[in-house]
Amino acid sequence: MASSSQARCVFLGAPGAGKGTQAKRVAEGSGLTHLSTGDLLREEVKSGSELGVEAKGYMDAGKLVPDQLIIDMVKARITGEATANGESGLLASSGWILDGFPRTLPQAEALDTNLSGDNALTHVISFAVPEVALMGRLTGRRTCSKCGAIWHIEHKPTSKEGVCDQCGGELTQRSDDREEAIGKRLEVYRSQTAPLLAYYSDRGVLKEVDANRSPDVVFQELLTHMQ
Ligand code: AP5
Repeated sequence: MASSSQARCVFLGAPGAGKGTQAKRVAEGSGLTHLSTGDLLREEVKSGSELGVEAKGYMDAGKLVPDQLIIDMVKARITGEATANGESGLLASSGWILDGFPRTLPQAEALDTNLSGDNALTHVISFAVPEVALMGRLTGRRTCSKCGAIWHIEHKPTSKEGVCDQCGGELTQRSDDREEAIGKRLEVYRSQTAPLLAYYSDRGVLKEVDANRSPDVVFQELLTHMQ
């Protein structure tokens, strides 16, 4: 099995399962590159780009952004052709975590096409959390507008309300963390993303983590899977 700094992983799980929280922590400690399609899309929305304007309506409604837009965006990040600021693509780094991609069978098939041989996936980690726990995680989530750190008003509060402990930035609530949009996101997860569990199980790369435990316990188990 690859060492964690060479792992090429997908983090798969329902909204609020803890993928982003854990991906940031694993990446910080291991040097793996963390690529979150949700974060990339939110940057596009913030910049007012054509893609951002198109994606915003889908995101706020809790729907998936159409496959082809996402596949083109990720493909460009894999090869490095989209990064005007000189960053290398994923293929240039020894290991990485894809967080929130793929989310549909066409996306998984497109990923297989772009990653083969030495670049093939080594791990797909499924974050298992009962749905009943997810609503509270999402309605209570707060994100730093400056550094992107993820907080929670009860499970991971900052020392001063509304202010990031890491950088002093202002905390905001995501526009899709409203009950109505969350309900739709969970429905979309069940119908379009959960079938990927069988897809990756059939390929022998799937590991399941019980992510309904404290973040520290989940992190330790992740490390054992990614050794
Ligand atoms: P995206 O940003 O990917 O959202 P998501 O998959 O819905 O996942 P979340 O970010 O909501 O949850 P998470 O699992 O990362 O949880 P987190 O660690 O933050 O996508 C947003 C939208 O973009 C999509 O709806 C879609 O429109 C579009 N999109 C993105 N990718 C796409 C794609 N591939 N195809 C098409 N469309 C795409 O944790 C949540 C909260 O819980 C936090 O407050 C955290 O502090 C807390 N928490 C974390 N772990 C624990 C724990 N163990 N115990 C208690 N609390 C915890």
